[in-house]
Amino acid sequence: MRNGYSEIFRNLPILETERLKLRKLSLRDAGDVFEYASLPEVAEHVTWEHHRNISDSIHYLRVTLQQYEDGVPSSWGIVHKGFGKLIGTIGYHALSPQNRYGEVGYALSKDFWKQGFMTEAFREVIKFGFDHMKLNRVEATCKLSNTASEKVMQKCGLKYEGILKQRLFAKGEYHDLKLYAILKSDWENHSG
Ligand SMILES: CC(C)(COP(=O)(O)OP(=O)(O)OC[C@H]1O[C@@H](n2cnc3c(N)ncnc32)[C@H](O)[C@@H]1OP(=O)(O)O)[C@@H](O)C(=O)NCCC(=O)NCCS
Repeated sequence: MRNGYSEIFRNLPILETERLKLRKLSLRDAGDVFEYASLPEVAEHVTWEHHRNISDSIHYLRVTLQQYEDGVPSSWGIVHKGFGKLIGTIGYHALSPQNRYGEVGYALSKDFWKQGFMTEAFREVIKFGFDHMKLNRVEATCKLSNTASEKVMQKCGLKYEGILKQRLFAKGEYHDLKLYAILKSDWENHSG
C-alpha cells in the first residue's frame, strides 16, 4: 500500500492504556501466541484455524513481521502490563485510504475474557485511527453468534448498520456478518 498509511504500519507506534500496552509483535511472542491461539474456542469466530503447534504461531508472526516491513495493514500485540505477557492482538486489517475508513479485527486469550480488556484496547485503536490515521469511519464485523465481540463494539460506541449476507468465506463455508461502525463525529460525542 503506497499511501499515507504505509509509514504507520512500518513503524506501528506503542499505544498505552491503563492496563495494556499495544506494541508490534515479535518472534519472541511465539510462546504466548501459541498459548491462546491453540484453543479452538478462541479461533471459533475468527478466520484463522487454531494453532496446532508452535510452528503455526511462528508462521503467523513471520507473516505479521513481513506486513510491518511492507507497510500494509497489520496488528498490534496486546501486552498485559501487570503480567508483562502478550494476551492478544488487535489491528486495522482493511483500509480504504480514498474513503477514509478502516476495519478492525481482534482476538484475546481466553484467560482474560470478560474483564473489559478488548474494550479498553479497541477504544485506543479507534482513537488512533481518528487522531493519527485521519480516518472518518471505523468498522468492525462479527458473526451473528459472536455476542462478546458485538458487545465490545457497542461498548466502544459503534452502531449496528445491518447484516452482510455471506460476506465471509471461512473454514469451508459462508458466514453472514453483522456490520458495526462509528463515525469520527460520533466518536467525538461518545468520548466526550
Ligand atoms: C470477542 C473478545 C475479543 C472479547 O474480549 P473481552 O476482553 O472479553 O471483551 P470485554 O470484556 O471488553 O467485553 C465483552 C462483553 O461481552 C460480554 N460477553 C462475553 N461473552 C458473552 C456471551 N457469550 N454472551 C453475552 N455476553 C458476553 C461480557 O460480559 C462483556 O460485557 P460487559 O462488560 O457488559 O460485562 C474475546 O471474547 C475473544 O477474543 N473472542 C475470540 C476471538 C473473537 O471472537 N474475535 C472477534 C472476531 S469478530
